[in-house]
Amino acid sequence: MPWPKSIITTTNKFVVTNNFKIQISNKDQGKVNYAATKFLRRLSNRTGIFLKEGFPFKKDNNSALKITFDTVAQPSLGVDESYTLEVNATNIQLNAKTDIGAIRGLETLLQLLKTTANESYFTGTKINDAPRFLWRGLLIDAARHFQPVAVIKRNLEAMAAVKMNVFHWHLTDDQGFRIESKVYPKLHKLASDGLYYTQHQIKNVVTYATRLGIRVIPEIDVPGHASAILTAYPELGSKDNYTYSLQRNAGVFDPTLNPTIDKTYKFLENLFTEVSSLFPDKYFHIGGDENEGKHWTENKKIAAFKKKHQLKTNHDLQTYFNIKLEKILSKLGKKLMGWDEIMTKNMPTTAVIHSWRGTNEGLKESTLIAAAKKGYPTVLSNGYYIDRMQSVVHHYKVDPIGNAKLTPAQRANILGGEATMWGELVTPLTIDSRIWPRTAAIAERFWSPKNVTDIDHMFKRLSVVSFQLEELGITHIRNKDVILRNLTQNQPTKSLEVLSAISEPLKIYTRNAGGTEYQTYSPFTLFADACTADAPDALQFNSYVNQYITQPTVKKKQQLTYFFKKWISGYKAFQELKNNTKLQKIAPLYKNLNQVSGLFLNALKSGKSNAELTSALKKLSRPVEDVEIVIVNALEKLNKSFQ
Ligand code: ACM
Repeated sequence: MPWPKSIITTTNKFVVTNNFKIQISNKDQGKVNYAATKFLRRLSNRTGIFLKEGFPFKKDNNSALKITFDTVAQPSLGVDESYTLEVNATNIQLNAKTDIGAIRGLETLLQLLKTTANESYFTGTKINDAPRFLWRGLLIDAARHFQPVAVIKRNLEAMAAVKMNVFHWHLTDDQGFRIESKVYPKLHKLASDGLYYTQHQIKNVVTYATRLGIRVIPEIDVPGHASAILTAYPELGSKDNYTYSLQRNAGVFDPTLNPTIDKTYKFLENLFTEVSSLFPDKYFHIGGDENEGKHWTENKKIAAFKKKHQLKTNHDLQTYFNIKLEKILSKLGKKLMGWDEIMTKNMPTTAVIHSWRGTNEGLKESTLIAAAKKGYPTVLSNGYYIDRMQSVVHHYKVDPIGNAKLTPAQRANILGGEATMWGELVTPLTIDSRIWPRTAAIAERFWSPKNVTDIDHMFKRLSVVSFQLEELGITHIRNKDVILRNLTQNQPTKSLEVLSAISEPLKIYTRNAGGTEYQTYSPFTLFADACTADAPDALQFNSYVNQYITQPTVKKKQQLTYFFKKWISGYKAFQELKNNTKLQKIAPLYKNLNQVSGLFLNALKSGKSNAELTSALKKLSRPVEDVEIVIVNALEKLNKSFQ
């Protein structure tokens, strides 16, 4: 995962022994050496083999794995990431045009490793691989909740493992400005709560990403989402006599830069100059989303400015602002990128349109397709909002192009997509479980051929990749237990694990609806935070129910019985966790599950439902403390089958 463009599996296998060695092209300047060293570490950890040589060579013709490439490349839009990989019984050859292609191929090879009771081997294959899209990104919002460098780095490693190549770093928002600024130091001093990246750290992250073949795009979100900037420099705001402060809740807020004064542009020019020097990539994201222009409308001087410049709407005024930013960035050698609100009549087609609103706003086609047709390069995020906590299936089914009819030039404008990890409800403890493993399937959508759509095949491979992500430091599986132990105060967590395997956090922003249930400093160690999308037992149970209803065999009845008994014994263990206020809210839910399970066991025996079961089931469908039990639909179907 992602599935290669072309793959032929042979009956050969290359058995790994302690003599396994890697030889890399002597052209390498570090990327492949780093990837190959990590490869050997992962290989020995997975297989348990004590390799005689734990590091790659530049010269050793006896090496089993030979890696060659033509040129060393910097990560940049359109860089060649193709490779070919051939695994035979006695040798493995990995060839690429660039060193970045070579490291993509190494990830593929490691996924071909099989370990049985007797041996570890790479399956024989001939692979010819290249990505479908040039831009395969992950956005991490470090503004709503700060994410330390260690969190960023482990996620970069995971991105590289699934061949993603753009890290979009959302660094400023209403809740914080996260970059150390030497030019405008009040930004990080007054508007970050002390939680910001030093310039040294930022350069270090960029170097780290570069070695993994990942581009880093900074986002400074303006003119809206600007409470943090205006907390530091209120004189740039659109409302006179207004006290700006960091927002502690989630939502869309009014504070907006004043686009009618020279000071604003001088500030942005100096800031962009400083920030661009930290990020070598050609692209620079200016946000531009969700500016409702309330403070613009309320300001008489801004209204007069609009009139004078014949700017009829706030949208026109924002275009005026964007065009000025485009010129500033162009002087710095950068290309402007912004959310789809920036796509207005006079916006030059050099700007990259980042589509997040899809077909909302009454459009006939997505903003992505509209942008491509108008001649803008464009990147899709609508459909890849992983913070909405929907199933991986939902995201996997979103194709950036879909059935749109495009000319070759229009098709070329669609650069790719980005999964967006918005940070309102995540801390370093939980962020990985909101990104992974679903983002691996999104990465496949961006890399693999369009016809790779088999859901069962995806799930099968995703469960393997998910487990392997932990070897890169991703904490999405292990941190569940950290949260559960915090909940039980270090008492046994098994009962909560049983419940969490059929529970999911509320989806599509129904958790924290209105944005005020949680502050930025609220606890994110609730039972909901231990739960994830695609609750594993629910997936299994729901499938069993469908099978049972189609054909109620004895075996299928046993499969269902197994789960009902699991929940009953889970509740029994749960009752031993006494005097715990943190568990009070979910206690009635668990009790209800216990009751429903008992009633279903009876119904499975008698073949009959009853009113008590129907009413208990209704109660089970109500969310509790931002969690919902996701087997209720299946239970309702099952109940109907007895009526
Ligand atoms: C966005 O979600 N406002 C880009």
